[in-house]
Amino acid sequence: MSEKIALVTGAGGFIGHHLVDHLIKKGRRVRGVDIKSPEYAPTSAHEFKLLDLRVEKNCAIATAGVDEVYHLAADMGGIGYITTSHAAIALHNTLINVNMLKTARENSVKRFLFSSSACVYPQYLQTKPDVTPLREDDAFPADPEEGYGLEKLYMEKLCQYFTEDWGFQTRTVRFHNVYGPLGTYDGGREKAPAAISRKIAGLPDGGTIEIWGDGQQTRSFMHVDDCVEGIFRIMQSDYDRPLNLGTDELVTVDELVDLVSQIAGKTLVKRHDTSRPQGVRGRNSDNSRLREILDWEPRIMLRDGMVPTYRWIADMVTGGRGEVHVPASQAAE
Ligand code: NAD
Ligand code: GDD
Repeated sequence: MSEKIALVTGAGGFIGHHLVDHLIKKGRRVRGVDIKSPEYAPTSAHEFKLLDLRVEKNCAIATAGVDEVYHLAADMGGIGYITTSHAAIALHNTLINVNMLKTARENSVKRFLFSSSACVYPQYLQTKPDVTPLREDDAFPADPEEGYGLEKLYMEKLCQYFTEDWGFQTRTVRFHNVYGPLGTYDGGREKAPAAISRKIAGLPDGGTIEIWGDGQQTRSFMHVDDCVEGIFRIMQSDYDRPLNLGTDELVTVDELVDLVSQIAGKTLVKRHDTSRPQGVRGRNSDNSRLREILDWEPRIMLRDGMVPTYRWIADMVTGGRGEVHVPASQAAE
């Protein structure tokens, strides 16, 4: 059987970088595309093209001659970025996504995976910290996150229509907050695990950490190694409707801060700033359908995943002098 050729868009970004490595391990020949070069480490893609995927002809170049498209490129970021950039995000992602889907079909790509988000879920179901985990069917009646979430939801439907009307094979994955090494940790697009790690790495023992919101809001966080394994499994499956990809290990933001402080070996004072963006009050993933379809689900516990994540960010922040206090339960690993 000849080697399958996979395109990873957003290969210069966080998940894309890890996915390139993972697909190569799975025997794929990988083409990576991004508007920027990989920021923190060289890519292992067999071929890497710098292309602006808002432009249709560039999407046609990217998708030419490939079997599978893992479409991750997007204008995205944490809650600080997505709540202040509705117009840019909606415009850029609409152009990228429509052109990618259209040209992939025209180039007879066999399978197209769209990276959607838990931000498609209705805000009215995410109003309390002890939130009921979100099931795939909860997405309608719709009330998604403005801008970013609304565009993702529309794109999910466009993938569904391409499949139903034209038999074009699509897969749609709703990621829940992904963290790990090589993720954006500063500049305004960082998400909570990376932002909190960066802040803690820069503080002395006994220092004061600024936390957005009152710290009681909840999330579940997925390590990037689970994310790329899940992406690969979903792409190989026969399931063409949206699927959650996340953990159901619900923690408060304060608990995340305590965990990272412990990993860093620092005792810190918390200062909550409720004027900063909080997003939904609580969000968790219901993995029933994922388990049913894949007989698999993400399994890396937050405590285990945050050790290498904090270590990488602390090294970046301190120029390699980041000290990590590995909890006793992990010392032997
Ligand atoms: P990321 O920002 O690290 O990677 C996205 C990449 O897309 C970047 O490298 C960026 O340069 C590239 N890109 C942006 N505009 C482009 C353009 N016009 N042409 C070509 N490339 C362009 O983000 P990520 O965390 O790796 O996210 C990957 C995908 O997963 C995105 O679609 C995102 O919406 C989705 N997602 C991520 C999370 C998460 O927690 N990381 C959660 C939900 C959904
Ligand atoms: N970013 C950030 N920075 N968040 C902080 C900080 C901080 O310094 N301190 C506390 N938080 C809180 C936020 O107020 C929010 O309540 C929570 O941590 C999570 O914030 P993010 O990680 O930025 O985003 P999110 O979980 O609300 O949404 C993210 O996940 C979605 C998928 O689940 C975003 O990255 C979306 O783009 C993504 O689709």
